[in-house]
Amino acid sequence: MYCVRNVTEDLYWIGANDRRLSLFENIHPIPEGVSYNAYVLTDEHTVLFDTIDWSACRQFLQNLEYVLDGRPLDYMVINHLEPDHGASIEEVLLRYPDVKIISTPKAFMLMRQFDFHIDSHELIEVKEGDTYSFGKHKVTFVAAPMVHWPEAMVTFDLTNGVLFAADAFGSFGSLDGKLFNDEVNFDRDWIDHARRYYTNIVGKYGPHVQLLLKKASTIVDQIRYICPLHGPVWRSDFGYLIDKYQHWSTYEPEEKGVMIAYASMYGNTEAAAGALAAKLCEKGMTNVVMYDVSNTHVSYLISETFRLSHVVLASVTYNLGIYPVMHNYLMDMKALNLQNRTFAIIENGSWACKSGDLMEKFLNEELKNMTVLSQRLSLASSLKAEKANEMEALADAIIESMAEQK
Ligand code: FEO
Repeated sequence: MYCVRNVTEDLYWIGANDRRLSLFENIHPIPEGVSYNAYVLTDEHTVLFDTIDWSACRQFLQNLEYVLDGRPLDYMVINHLEPDHGASIEEVLLRYPDVKIISTPKAFMLMRQFDFHIDSHELIEVKEGDTYSFGKHKVTFVAAPMVHWPEAMVTFDLTNGVLFAADAFGSFGSLDGKLFNDEVNFDRDWIDHARRYYTNIVGKYGPHVQLLLKKASTIVDQIRYICPLHGPVWRSDFGYLIDKYQHWSTYEPEEKGVMIAYASMYGNTEAAAGALAAKLCEKGMTNVVMYDVSNTHVSYLISETFRLSHVVLASVTYNLGIYPVMHNYLMDMKALNLQNRTFAIIENGSWACKSGDLMEKFLNEELKNMTVLSQRLSLASSLKAEKANEMEALADAIIESMAEQK
């Protein structure tokens, strides 16, 4: 049975959801699943825009067959061939052997690397600025290298203003029938999925996203729909989405607020983190969130770190080093190129307390444009009453630095 939605009169969403996959890319938890989006245009020629993951291939093929309604499939445009999209390319080729594939030379190279058998089919290589007509609809191709793979491109339909955006503007989360951004409460129900998707999957490549945004800005008044490969299709409120992408891709925080990430073995460092949170709120800074790094997947920590302006790292010393899961979080910040945050440090050690110096050294030497407040709270095993003044001073330093920022 098919499950399709019209995007426009002659463009159909024919994707599918995967609610069974627990780890996207076998690393990021997706408790609410993910959608793989593909689209078919039924012009004088029929055109498939991207395919989907193996896991939902059957649904996708049924959708494709239904929309084609006996017509042949003439073209397949591959904007992004990473296997969560490209894995079904060969299945399409088997069923529609005369289909011509339109993509970038790098994508064809990668298809061969993945052992997709494409070479007995007609391959049409395109590059930045090329155009192609399918009948009424004329499209142009825009290179989007490293957003977030090297072969990626986006396709813009000059006739109806549809932007096929590949992974850009995508999101974790499955679609429960609702396809368009104006059918959901995106800011309430989707933004955390979208942020965690962007920051962990594409986050490293902010400068490349900036280049794509720059290209998009030249046609923004012509864009009517943004069709990403995951999550809702956008047909309104583009400014909201582009503003988020602007913040994320320039590594600027969305909000003034404090994330307290703590690593605690027996609850004492956690107690200090909790006391600081209460002190900040008492002083009027209530945009405070706390995360136990041992019990929070690092993808969530990264997403929140992209959102907020200030981060408190509270860590025990472990084997004379930083607690391993806290270290992993720091390493992920580095891998994802995170910048421009203000940090405060709480360290703990029952003897030879090292974690504070080591975290500060990492922030200063391994990451870019990070500010570490000089006020630090050092604990010997537990938080004692005599540390009240230091706690007060730490909260004040965080709030003062926030006030100094734009
Ligand atoms: Fe959704 Fe880069 O694949």
